[in-house]
Amino acid sequence: MKTSGYQRRYDTLRRMIDRRIASMSQRGTPKDLNDACRYVLAGGGKRVRSIVLLLSCEAVGGNVQQALDAGVALEIMHNFTLVHDDIMDHARSRRGRPTVHIRWDLNNALLAGDVLLGLAYAALLRTRSGELHAAVEMFTNGLLQVCEGQALDLEFEKRADVSTRDYFRMIEKKTGRLFSLAGELGGLIGGGKPGQVIALREFGHHLGRAFQLQDDLLDVMADKSHLGKSIGGDIVERKKTYLLLKAAERARGRDRAVVHALLRGKRTAGKKPHPALNPASRNARARIIADVTDIYRRYNVVEDTERQVRANTRKAINALTSLPRSDATGALQWLSDALVRRAS
Ligand code: IPE
Ligand code: IPE
Ligand code: MG
Ligand code: MG
Ligand code: MG
Repeated sequence: MKTSGYQRRYDTLRRMIDRRIASMSQRGTPKDLNDACRYVLAGGGKRVRSIVLLLSCEAVGGNVQQALDAGVALEIMHNFTLVHDDIMDHARSRRGRPTVHIRWDLNNALLAGDVLLGLAYAALLRTRSGELHAAVEMFTNGLLQVCEGQALDLEFEKRADVSTRDYFRMIEKKTGRLFSLAGELGGLIGGGKPGQVIALREFGHHLGRAFQLQDDLLDVMADKSHLGKSIGGDIVERKKTYLLLKAAERARGRDRAVVHALLRGKRTAGKKPHPALNPASRNARARIIADVTDIYRRYNVVEDTERQVRANTRKAINALTSLPRSDATGALQWLSDALVRRAS
């Protein structure tokens, strides 16, 4: 299939997911809660995880219709994690709009997240498959690991001794796990052999790593109007991103002091934050983001992260080689390559 064919296939699958999600959005009361859920579900998004799930089902000989409810379930679970993630990360915008806790309030955002998780399970349970029990088990295991990954992400904000190994362990859970779940769940529902299901899980695992590395990169390098999220949020929140950890290894002189002040992380009891990291004003915030971004550029941290994204994408694509070649595996490969070039 040609590149334009894969793009059309992606667009078609995305529309299928969007339509199915729209048909199950809650209506009625309580108004704020239902409005918030609809707001999230109608907010677009790339639908990457659900599309990986549908294509994984097809890659083992299944058809996308049988995996549609599971795809929708995974997408809604992902949206649930975003609503709570934005609270934890103090993020004010997503997909070019105010986040739920900003548009409404904290309590409504917490509840909307809870409802979305319920809706995700409701969708999953509609799956017609002899493997439904195993599918629910997989889904639940995935959810628990995302929560562990998110807890590590928060723990690392306060820790100065995070290694790149710790970083990968954290992103494999918070982001990689939903991608590996997409692969294995699609493979399971499609009736894949155990080895094929494992190959698809491996594919998702590496793709998820690449995806989060790229997300870290976009946090500093993207155009805000394309990204739909604030630029530099990871810097302000002292996230232990791959970029920060690499900069900490390389920066010298004054640069080193800036990076190490960030690394020391969030205030811990009795310890005042570095003044440069307590941006009382928008200007102070913009200045620290500009300084750190400049350091990332000058010490080749940006190139290094781009290389990591490409290497992990290659590993993902390699994992597909044990599956029979088809339009579905071609589309998974196309999607992996396309994600490297994304702007949001
Ligand atoms: C954002 O995921 C959260 C991360 C794991 C980086 P996406 O970039 O897939 O978000 P949407 O759904 O397309 O908005
Ligand atoms: C999000 O990682 C991972 C999950 C939502 C589980 P980020 O915090 O980097 O995602 P964005 O940048 O807010 O989308
Ligand atoms: Mg986060
Ligand atoms: Mg976030
Ligand atoms: Mg991010």
